Amino acid sequence: MRAPTSIGPGRRAARALGDRRAYPNRRWLSALLALPVDRLDAFLSEADRFAELEHGIRERQIAGGRRSYAQFRAPLELYAMVRALRPDHVIETGVSSGVSSAHILLALRRNRRGTLHSIDFPTAQRGARFSRRDSPVALPPGRRTGWVVPPELRRGWDLRIGPSEKLLVPLVAETPTVGLFLHDSRHTPRHLAFELDTIAPRLEPGSIVLADNTVWTGRAFPRFARRLGASVRRRGRSDLVGLRVPPGVLPPPRGAGGR
Ligand SMILES: C[S@@+](CC[C@H](N)C(=O)[O-])C[C@H]1O[C@@H](n2cnc3c(N)ncnc32)[C@H](O)[C@@H]1O
Repeated sequence: MRAPTSIGPGRRAARALGDRRAYPNRRWLSALLALPVDRLDAFLSEADRFAELEHGIRERQIAGGRRSYAQFRAPLELYAMVRALRPDHVIETGVSSGVSSAHILLALRRNRRGTLHSIDFPTAQRGARFSRRDSPVALPPGRRTGWVVPPELRRGWDLRIGPSEKLLVPLVAETPTVGLFLHDSRHTPRHLAFELDTIAPRLEPGSIVLADNTVWTGRAFPRFARRLGASVRRRGRSDLVGLRVPPGVLPPPRGAGGR
């Protein structure tokens, strides 16, 4: 009998999540973290073992009246990043249903250390049914920010509700270091530049910074990367980008650099 063909690490989890975009891009992950693919494959394979959890996220989305949802496109790479980096603190802006949050929380739980701090300023769906007038990230009736995050992962989650324009500065003031930052909130050049400037003093060499939907954020991310002397790593042909703070580079002071 032939052995079952491997479909690639992380693909089983992506299928269970029902999102083809979530098939891991291992080359991107390896280039971003500056780690060999084999080492990262181990974390992606680990995620396959949680396919049940991915399936549960999918089921919750469908129960909330959504078959497709505007969500972070690289949740499995995000899982592997948190496993590999073992950060003490992760900050994300833009939670919505909570696909990115669930994967960060799962990885932190596996690490047995670290806290996720999330900020979200949600919008609500207008009527009982999703219509074309609704934002693709609007909360379905009766649902709150992070509504697909499994209850068992919520313990210790620092979730703050409000605009990141107001909440990010005080959050960063309370947070000694940021091992990973994910921008997935308001996608404007000015707002992304504000978020990057705000977290910069807490970054360390080796910290990872991610920004999704950069098609709308102009030069904000590449400018920040240039200030750090970091390379911008794009995920395939998408507009999800990341950078790794280079060794020995001290993050620039807030506001030092143009937009
Ligand atoms: C693309 S969704 C986030 C998707 C999420 N990362 C995931 O994986 O499911 C963007 C979220 O950011 C929220 N948002 C928009 N502007 C914001 C702001 N200024 N501050 C905080 N959250 C904001 C939106 O309401 C929405 O909930």
